Amino acid sequence: MIITHLSLTNFRNYVSLDIDLPPHISIFQGDNAQGKSNLLEAITLLATSKSPRAKTEKELINWSTFDNELAACRISAVVERNSGKISLDIALGSRVPSNSTFHSSPQINEDTHHHSPVYKRIKINGIPRRATDLIGQVNGVAFSVHDIDVIGGEPALRRRYLDILGCQIDPQYLHNLQRYQRVLWQRNRLLRQISDKQATEDELSFWDNELVYTGSHITVQRDHLINQIESIARRIHKELSSANDSLMLAYNSSIHREARGDALVEATADIYHASLQSSRQREIVRGTTLVGPHRDELRFISEDVDIGIFGSRGQQRTVALALKLAEASYMWSKTGDYPVLLLDDILSELDSRRREHILESVARYQQVLITTTDLDHFNPGFVEHAALYDVVAGSIGLLTV
Ligand SMILES: Nc1ncnc2c1ncn2[C@@H]1O[C@H](COP(=O)(O)OP(=O)(O)O)[C@@H](O)[C@H]1O
Ligand SMILES: [Mg+2]
Repeated sequence: MIITHLSLTNFRNYVSLDIDLPPHISIFQGDNAQGKSNLLEAITLLATSKSPRAKTEKELINWSTFDNELAACRISAVVERNSGKISLDIALGSRVPSNSTFHSSPQINEDTHHHSPVYKRIKINGIPRRATDLIGQVNGVAFSVHDIDVIGGEPALRRRYLDILGCQIDPQYLHNLQRYQRVLWQRNRLLRQISDKQATEDELSFWDNELVYTGSHITVQRDHLINQIESIARRIHKELSSANDSLMLAYNSSIHREARGDALVEATADIYHASLQSSRQREIVRGTTLVGPHRDELRFISEDVDIGIFGSRGQQRTVALALKLAEASYMWSKTGDYPVLLLDDILSELDSRRREHILESVARYQQVLITTTDLDHFNPGFVEHAALYDVVAGSIGLLTV
C-alpha cells in the first residue's frame, strides 16, 4: 500500500503541510527538532488511531492555536491499497474554556486538560466513522529507537507490540481486546466491592464467564500470532546476528497451559476458569484480577539466554529489529498489502552490517519513509534511488544533493 498524499493542519509543529508522497523509498533529512518524528507520528496515527508517544491527545495540536476557543488539528491522507483508493481524515480538537489560563505556552497543564476534553472525528471516504473503523485501513510498521524497550522493558510494552499487530490484521482481535478491557474494569470494581463487603462473591460468576470467554479468545489469538512471528523473526535474527544465533519467543500466559499450540479456545477456557477459581481469594484481598491476558508476558530467548534480562544492548537491538521486520512481513502475508514502513532515525545507532541488512530488507516494500539527521548513513546507491526531502521547522521541501 502507498500513502499518495498527506496533509497536516496544526498537527504538532506542522501548521500546514500538503505533500504528495511517491512509492518506494523517501528519505526525510533534517536537524533535530524539525518535525521528522512528528511526520511519522501522524502516519502512525492514521494506522492505529493513537499516538505512541503523546501522553494526552491535546499535545498533538499545534501550540499556537491554543488561544483559539476551538483549537484543532487535522490529518488527512489518500491511500492506495490493492482493493482501491481510500481517503482518511482525522480531526482532533478541544474546546478551551473561555476563562482558561491555557494560552500558547508549550507547558501543558494537566489540570486544564480535564476541563478541555479532546474530541476525535474520523472520516473514511468522507463518511464519519468510529476510531475502530480506522484501524486496519492503513497498515504501518514503525521502527524507532524505542523498539529496544520492547525487549527489556515493562511487560506492558510487549503486550502492546502484540496488540498493535493483532489489531491491524484482525478486526476481531480489536473487538475482543476492547470487550476484555471493559469486562476487566467491571470485574475489578466488583472485586473491590466484595472486599469492602458491599457485594457478594456469587455476583462474580457472570463476570468470570465474560472474562473467560473474551480472554480465552485473546490468549489463543496471541498464541497464534507469537508462533507466526517467531518463525519469521527466527530466520531474520539468524541473518542479523553475527554468530547465527537462535531466537525463541516464549509466551508466558498467566493462564497456566500445559503446552503451546494446543490453541483451542475451549481448552483454554477450562484452564482459565480453574485458574480464576484458585486465585479467587487472593483476587478479593487484592481487589484486582490476577489472571488473564492483561498479565501475559512474552520473553525473547536466544541461545538459551533471556535477552530481555541478560542481553547486551546490541543483542537487544538485534532482536528488536528482527521482531519489527517479522511484523512487517507477517502483516503483508496476512493482508496481501505491503505495510508502509516508517523508519524513524534508527540507522545512526546500527553498525554498517545491520544497516545494510535493514536497508536491503525494506527495499522490497512498496513504500518506506525514512528519517535521518545525516544522509551519510546511506550508501550513494541507495540515496540515488530514493526521493529526498528536507525537513525544516515544520515544512518539507525537496532536497537536491
Ligand atoms: N503541539 C505542538 N505544537 C507545536 N510544536 C510542537 C508540538 N509538539 C511538539 N512540537 C515541536 O516539535 C519539535 C519536535 O519535532 P520532532 O518531529 O520530534 O523532531 P525531530 O525532527 O528531531 O524528529 C520540537 O521542536 C517540539 O517543540
Ligand atoms: Mg525524531
